[in-house]
Amino acid sequence: MRSHYCGQLSEALIGQTVTLCGWADVARNLGGVCFIDLRDHEGIAQIVAEPDNPAYATAAQVGYEDCLKVTGVVRARHSVNDKLKTGRIEVVAERIELLNKAETLPFYLHESPGEDVRLKYRYLDLRRPAMQQTMRTRVALVRALRRYLDAQGFQDIETPILTKATPEGARDYLVPSRVHPGEFFALPQSPQLFKQLLMMAGFDRYYQIARCFRDEDLRADRQPEFTQLDMEFAFITEADIQNFVEGMIRSVLNEVGGIELANPFPRMSYAEAMRRYGSDKPDLRIAWELIDIAELVKHCEFKVFTDWANHNDGRVAALRVPGGASLSRKQIDDYGAFCAKYGAKGLAWMKVESRAKGREGVNSPIAKFLDDATLNAVLDAAEAQDGDLLFFGAGTWKTVCDFMGALRLKAAKDLGQVASGWAPLWVTDFPMFEWDEDAQRYVALHHPFTAPKIDDLADLAANAHTAVSRGYDMVLNGNEIGGGSVRIHNSAMQAKVFELLGIGAEEAQAKFGFLLEALRYGAPPHGGIAFGIDRIAALMAGSDSIRDVIAFPKTASAQCLLTSAPSPIDDRQLVELHVQVRPAAAKV
Ligand code: AMO
Ligand code: AMP
Repeated sequence: MRSHYCGQLSEALIGQTVTLCGWADVARNLGGVCFIDLRDHEGIAQIVAEPDNPAYATAAQVGYEDCLKVTGVVRARHSVNDKLKTGRIEVVAERIELLNKAETLPFYLHESPGEDVRLKYRYLDLRRPAMQQTMRTRVALVRALRRYLDAQGFQDIETPILTKATPEGARDYLVPSRVHPGEFFALPQSPQLFKQLLMMAGFDRYYQIARCFRDEDLRADRQPEFTQLDMEFAFITEADIQNFVEGMIRSVLNEVGGIELANPFPRMSYAEAMRRYGSDKPDLRIAWELIDIAELVKHCEFKVFTDWANHNDGRVAALRVPGGASLSRKQIDDYGAFCAKYGAKGLAWMKVESRAKGREGVNSPIAKFLDDATLNAVLDAAEAQDGDLLFFGAGTWKTVCDFMGALRLKAAKDLGQVASGWAPLWVTDFPMFEWDEDAQRYVALHHPFTAPKIDDLADLAANAHTAVSRGYDMVLNGNEIGGGSVRIHNSAMQAKVFELLGIGAEEAQAKFGFLLEALRYGAPPHGGIAFGIDRIAALMAGSDSIRDVIAFPKTASAQCLLTSAPSPIDDRQLVELHVQVRPAAAKV
């Protein structure tokens, strides 16, 4: 239908006849001359229709977002618009065809309405140039990853969507079977087991751009269905995998986004990351670190500190906020409320007005509980300077990591202390298991197929609480963009890990019997990783939410506002599927 895209027109085409298609971004009638800004995905071209022109009658009727086909001659503009790529030319319309009239839109595309409206009318939201740009960056990212891996001999193999539960720590989305009454498929939380089976089948190197489904609490960086670049390698060690995928990420992000990443990425153990940053995905663009002060406050008068400093699972940590002494009482209280959401029972603080004046130079509700020596030792440990604010957290090790880690991120963002640029990191040496207080059993920190560093079964069982896994995460600017591990490739070890996770032999057989059996027929050593495509695309687009880089995302309450899914189904379908809906669970 068209000869050129709007955004491609330039002075080189002056005098030529072109045919363009697109939408009327702006249509205005100025003193008898009609101007239309015609928009397609490449940009905008100004169309002019003068009264003596046959196209004028149609041009005068064109309204906002009408869909048009325009034929005309390119000419130089009288008044150049340097803000527009095509601002030096315009098209004098000879023929305008109204392909489809637009009714009044629910919102004006030049403004950003609330997210609910954007999601309900996503096809209109996506017409906006910024959204076009973002989605196209995502397309370019996936294309470059595929090209990289295809060139390296990886096999792109699809794995089932209707399958059996693959545990990654979330709830499953289930699909009832019509032909097997009372039985259900699970949608995959990841292709984990199938990619391992592909290694056992001899494919050596696999990748897939795979859709994953997880019914979990949603946040800005989580969607119920999301996309992974899923990879697996046979006959390989963790160092080989990390080197390969680090090279891939560095090359592809540079090609697609012009991003320069350190070579090599820094590495840090899980224990070090938690100690220094209170997080297993630290944002290294922020220089601040947590400072352990338990040893210094073990015998002070402040009971909260002494209790936790002497507790075997306790932590007392300080965070120095440079220049934070200027924060108001209300701002400090707001940080306290913020930390409470992460389980903090309180947030002690100390303003350092004059370090030289010692006790006289600080302003703090807890200073009175600290003798001079302790107070000075704490200030020294924190390397406090005039104008600083110190925050203090005390509690269980995990709680203090959680809230002080979150506080570090929030306060640094609020105070503009996040450096620009890109900070990648490998986090390694994760604990194999985490004790789940509620369930009173161990859960896998990665997933149950991750190999432990200990090879000996009895050793592992005896040291489960301290065992370290062969898992690793790739972190970029405080986001976990990828996670993987070397896998268990020995059936007895896999059975032992299931047992330590409280999965009985019978249950293990019922759920994972096929894996335990497959591991007995000469399974090769193997390992891999999966990257969150949505998260990487959001980082590249500078978006806070992965919803911005997903064409049709779900809301934070896991709904699609465009199609109104999920929605009730009729009785006939329920009967066919042998499903009875419990009234209490019905939607209100
Ligand atoms: P993991 O569960 O760490 O590992 O997932 C890998 C990566 O996928 C992204 N991700 C998500 N992105 C958006 N929404 C979600 N709900 C979501 N959950 C995870 C993250 C994460 O780093 N099978 C293993 C991989 C392996 O061991 O090879 C797995 O799925 O960026
Ligand atoms: P209180 O004596 O309970 O009023 O607490 C005195 C100060 O200690 C207040 O600023 C509290 O916010 C703070 N605080 C209380 N519990 C904790 C805790 N677990 N960690 C850090 N600070 C706390």
